[in-house]
Amino acid sequence: MTITVRLGARSYPILIADSYRGLPAALARLRLPREGWLVSHRALVARHGRALRRVLLEAGWHVRVLTIPESETAKSLATVERLLRAFAGARRMRTPLVLAFGGGVVGDVAGFAAAVYRRGVPYVQLPTTLLAQVDSAIGGKTGVDVSAGKNLVGAFHQPRLVYNNVSLLRTLPPRQRRSGLAEVIKYGVIADPALFRYLEEHPAECLALEPRAVRVLVERSCRIKAAVVAKDERDVRGARAALNFGHTLGHALEAAGRYRRWTHGEAIAIGMCAAAALAADAGYCDEGLVARLVRLCRRYGLPTHAQRTAWGAVAAAMRLDKKFVRGRPRWVLPRRLGRVVVTEALRPAQITRMLRRSVRGSGTG
Ligand code: GLY
Repeated sequence: MTITVRLGARSYPILIADSYRGLPAALARLRLPREGWLVSHRALVARHGRALRRVLLEAGWHVRVLTIPESETAKSLATVERLLRAFAGARRMRTPLVLAFGGGVVGDVAGFAAAVYRRGVPYVQLPTTLLAQVDSAIGGKTGVDVSAGKNLVGAFHQPRLVYNNVSLLRTLPPRQRRSGLAEVIKYGVIADPALFRYLEEHPAECLALEPRAVRVLVERSCRIKAAVVAKDERDVRGARAALNFGHTLGHALEAAGRYRRWTHGEAIAIGMCAAAALAADAGYCDEGLVARLVRLCRRYGLPTHAQRTAWGAVAAAMRLDKKFVRGRPRWVLPRRLGRVVVTEALRPAQITRMLRRSVRGSGTG
């Protein structure tokens, strides 16, 4: 199965497959360099790296492995510098191919290193988590976190190929599955009522990531992300903003929890429920949609409120986020399933009242 991200000369395929057997042929079709770097995590390389490298080597691709730590703190300029030093140290490879083999952190860091090394070398996304396969590997936003904010330093650099080997998802720990499923729920709300209904009707299959369910979830999500990116590659036309449903509060919660308390998906599940409650309160959607969303998140083992969280820390993190526009947070609010609006027009008092309810147990922060 191939889905194309249509961006003129920068178009690229997203391949959905059950193994890496088709990878060398896909690389060959794109005439990508036969030497390069596989950027990944140590544990992932130990588990799947040997098979992947064998497939590549047998087809004439020579890659050296570089590993980075498995945490959001690795998404730093220091990690990028380490990668760039390694790239520059191998002078024989004038234009290396960078293969990002991992989740969102690996994709963002390796993609950014590929964007700036020699002013841009080709890279390929080999995402290994559900979240990365349906979201972060697609779209070309690469970058790192700095003390002033998450993803504050980065570049647009589209991959040449996204290769989703869905067989790897079967070994994902339950918490990472649920985290990825939160992004799939997001796609259902912003663009695909049928996907939302599928999630409602097949929770056991989706949570178990059964092969048929995985195909549906990954394919439909990739189609939505590809279409949005094609409309708004550089995030200037407004289409991409819809992808931030749940992220206004979600990113702030992640930061307030120091990226340890909640996974990305857990934080955006809370953020989606809060945004939906805010939308109903402001008259954008009915309470029925909020109830359906909360029920679905609960069914998927995702949190819907941020208990025992200091509201002050969350509010401060929200003010630092890129989604704060002209002094006001930008909200993505559902109107009905499949349709959202983006607005900065909510009154601060209304936001605070609603969010304090989402961030329960606060009020003292
Ligand atoms: N790399 C994720 C995005 O561009 O949306």
